[in-house]
Amino acid sequence: MSRGIGTWLRTRLEDLLEAALTRLRRAPSTTPPTLYLASTQDDSTARVKPVQIGSWKVLGVIASGASATVFRVVPAWAPASKQHYALKLHASSLSAERDARSRFHREIRILKGLQHRNVVGMVEAGEHRGQLFIVMELVEGRNLRQALDHQKPQLTGKLDWAIQIARALSAVHRRGVVHRDLKPENILTTRVGVIKLADFGLAVQDELQKITRVGLLVGTPAYMAPETMMGHEPGPRSDLYSLGLVLYELFTGCMPFKAQTVGEFIDAHLAAAPVPPRRRDASLPASVEAIILRLLEKDPDARYQSADELREALEASLAEVVGIARAAQEAREAGVQVA
Ligand SMILES: Nc1ncnc2c1ncn2[C@@H]1O[C@H](COP(=O)(O)OP(=O)(O)O)[C@@H](O)[C@H]1O
Ligand SMILES: [Mg+2]
Repeated sequence: MSRGIGTWLRTRLEDLLEAALTRLRRAPSTTPPTLYLASTQDDSTARVKPVQIGSWKVLGVIASGASATVFRVVPAWAPASKQHYALKLHASSLSAERDARSRFHREIRILKGLQHRNVVGMVEAGEHRGQLFIVMELVEGRNLRQALDHQKPQLTGKLDWAIQIARALSAVHRRGVVHRDLKPENILTTRVGVIKLADFGLAVQDELQKITRVGLLVGTPAYMAPETMMGHEPGPRSDLYSLGLVLYELFTGCMPFKAQTVGEFIDAHLAAAPVPPRRRDASLPASVEAIILRLLEKDPDARYQSADELREALEASLAEVVGIARAAQEAREAGVQVA
């Protein structure tokens, strides 16, 4: 193994990734599982749909994962209300577990302090029969994974999404929070194309990072920055790497590395050069390719140093794309032959 990664860490990583890949192969969806190295998960718990949680009437299930279920709810005191909300209920098997519980408390604390158009808004938090829950604004739409599967956004639409994600990250980082689990499933899109960053279950805030144990690896391996794989504490620039992977997928429809085995997976993130996005799609502007490749630099110092810097680059790229399209339109209207 290259780059002096400790044998123990590599072994742990390999076990972790193998388990993840095994689950992935078994799973009907292509969603890479989130890993919690520090916790044990009991997937066998049967989940019965509750009728009411706290003072919220359950209307249906939006999504169900290993650590939480997200329900569509309406206030029980106004059951006919058209205003619905999303309620994330922590899995009971995890509620009793200290690490998982403190993660959920962290999510509540972080969401409380974050009010931004591009971050999912929190309404209240509570406990129901020993299970923690968060009530959030309901994002009527799709997560980015579903959007990529079902929609075919134009280049300008994709750039607009990317800019909104950068804005969300900038707001998050400004508060000293690192998301640590950026991936398409945790980025929501409304029906009118507004981005809402979600799932702060793994996020950490400056002073809280101290409680993260050395060598604790949390996140989704497919979107993990090389420094995180090496066992370093992820920082804002690790979020930017993960966003580079998300944007690669958004703009090309595939991942930047061809990895078959766990070892190849790790090596690719640590040492392999990503396949240049324009080799996947020759019509992509050079500026978009340059942005993605800079985000995917192995060395955090070589990446954009802030989400704001990234946002500026994306805005310049969007202006260029729109400018070219407008010039072509004007030329067409003037009867000039354009390619
Ligand atoms: N506020 C919300 N509005 C609509 N759907 C949501 C909301 N929050 C989460 N979801 C859906 O539920 C899924 C899982 O939520 P998430 O917070 O990521 O939980 P987990 O910790 O289980 O990954 C998301 O991918 C999204 O599809
Ligand atoms: Mg999630």
